[in-house]
Amino acid sequence: MKITKICCIGAGYVGGPTMAVIAKQNPNIKVTIVDINAERIAAWNDDDLSKLPIYEPGLADIVKDTRGDNLFFSTEIDKAIDESEMIFISVNTPTKTYGKGKGMASDLKYIELCARNIAKVAKTDKIVVEKSTLPVRTAETIKSILHNTGNDINFHILSNPEFLAEGTAINDLLKPDRVLIGGEHEKSIQILAEIYSSWVPKYKILKTNLWSSELSKLAANAFLAQRVSSINAISELCEHTEANINEVAKAIGMDSRIGSEFLNASVGFGGSCFQKDILNLVYLARSYGLHEVADYWEQVVILNDHQKRRFSDRIINTLYNTVSGKKIALFGWAFKKDTNDTRESAAIYIANHLLNEQAKLAIYDPKVSEVKIQADLNFLNSRSEKENKANTENFQSPYEAAKNAHAIAIITEWEEFKKYDWNKMYAIMKKPAFIFDGRNLLNKKEMNTIGFEYYTIGQY
Ligand code: UDX
Ligand code: UDX
Repeated sequence: MKITKICCIGAGYVGGPTMAVIAKQNPNIKVTIVDINAERIAAWNDDDLSKLPIYEPGLADIVKDTRGDNLFFSTEIDKAIDESEMIFISVNTPTKTYGKGKGMASDLKYIELCARNIAKVAKTDKIVVEKSTLPVRTAETIKSILHNTGNDINFHILSNPEFLAEGTAINDLLKPDRVLIGGEHEKSIQILAEIYSSWVPKYKILKTNLWSSELSKLAANAFLAQRVSSINAISELCEHTEANINEVAKAIGMDSRIGSEFLNASVGFGGSCFQKDILNLVYLARSYGLHEVADYWEQVVILNDHQKRRFSDRIINTLYNTVSGKKIALFGWAFKKDTNDTRESAAIYIANHLLNEQAKLAIYDPKVSEVKIQADLNFLNSRSEKENKANTENFQSPYEAAKNAHAIAIITEWEEFKKYDWNKMYAIMKKPAFIFDGRNLLNKKEMNTIGFEYYTIGQY
């Protein structure tokens, strides 16, 4: 089978950039990204590229080069499934909020809907590729639906997990550490490998069985998150001793067996994947009765919750045990720099805690809209929408946000924060002026010299 047309269901943070790069690197393949969300598809088709639904450095250029040539965004899901030889499933798989596995397991209802839709529409053989991160053995479910409800045609299921990180997605896709393809049908694996080999060296394309591929994705995210929780655990110890987390991280990271990346102490990890995937792993382990394994990984999430909580606790304790009625400027709302994604961002939980303590929040993020911030807060159901709105204000300028504030809390590591005129910032704030740097972005000595009471993660 020669692939001439690909369809991807789900035009989100994963489907959008991944398919844009596949289209760019394979000009002879027509790639159509479909989504049930018409508003999102309209945004992907907007002439003004600054209006794309996802902010990701380098993405707009690729969309500009390929859209209308061999990259298309559409809501005509059935048509795209029908005409494509290969279908990627890249829909979201949130943690279940109801029933069995509530709060732990992945909700696979969208995956099942996609499989049923493919089975209904497909009239010719298809290769179905799991792009969404899924619990191990989900391919079995997809296979069962396709084989039992399909129109007597051949479906081959592949697992091809995505390892891109938001904010660096395009670079990660163009120069991946590896591409992983799991499957049972050698020929289908080869067909997908060929699509990647138009830009990825062959030795980086790993072929495994389906279950290894699914588990590798969960395990990779669990290991990465574990590093963040490990360094964050050490950061708390640093704050109680005279050790400095930056020095410790450097010393640890120079051990080539450990490596220097992913050792930045922080307010805690966020993002749509880490917590969800670990909880998934925990649920999986428990379902096999492997309680020690489950407890081990669960601790990574417990430590992360602790890190978020102790950051907001520290703000409250330091501001003389009360933030009631005090203006606190939050710099950054996204879960990391260079993205407008806020899923599971530490900012949401820190803001919620401060609002419980009756603080007045002044929020500035270079890429996140006020609507999104309010929606994130309202989703927690901690207080009425009206109260959230009344006690938070969004600003287009960081200086306006900081004016008359008692404290600034840095939550996201946006580069621009380093370049501010911190003397000016100090002058417009209430005194004593506090900074709580949740990303160790600024220089302690410089901030102290200006006059700030400067608190950071993991420094005495
Ligand atoms: C990612 C990964 O794909 C997934 O592995 C991970 O578990 C969660 O995050 P992402 O692309 O970031 O997904 O999710 P999102 O930006 O929410 O995009 C998913 C898209 O799928 C949405 O635009 C949604 O409208 C669409 N969708 C969902 C469908 O088109 N059909 C459905 O049935 C369900
Ligand atoms: C992650 C994985 O890296 C990626 O391979 C997978 O496909 C999806 O999940 P993502 O969540 O987009 O990617 O971003 P990542 O760079 O991994 O950061 C996750 C969180 O950890 C962020 O909140 C980030 O700020 C935090 N982090 C990361 C730290 O606090 N310290 C670090 O040293 C690194």
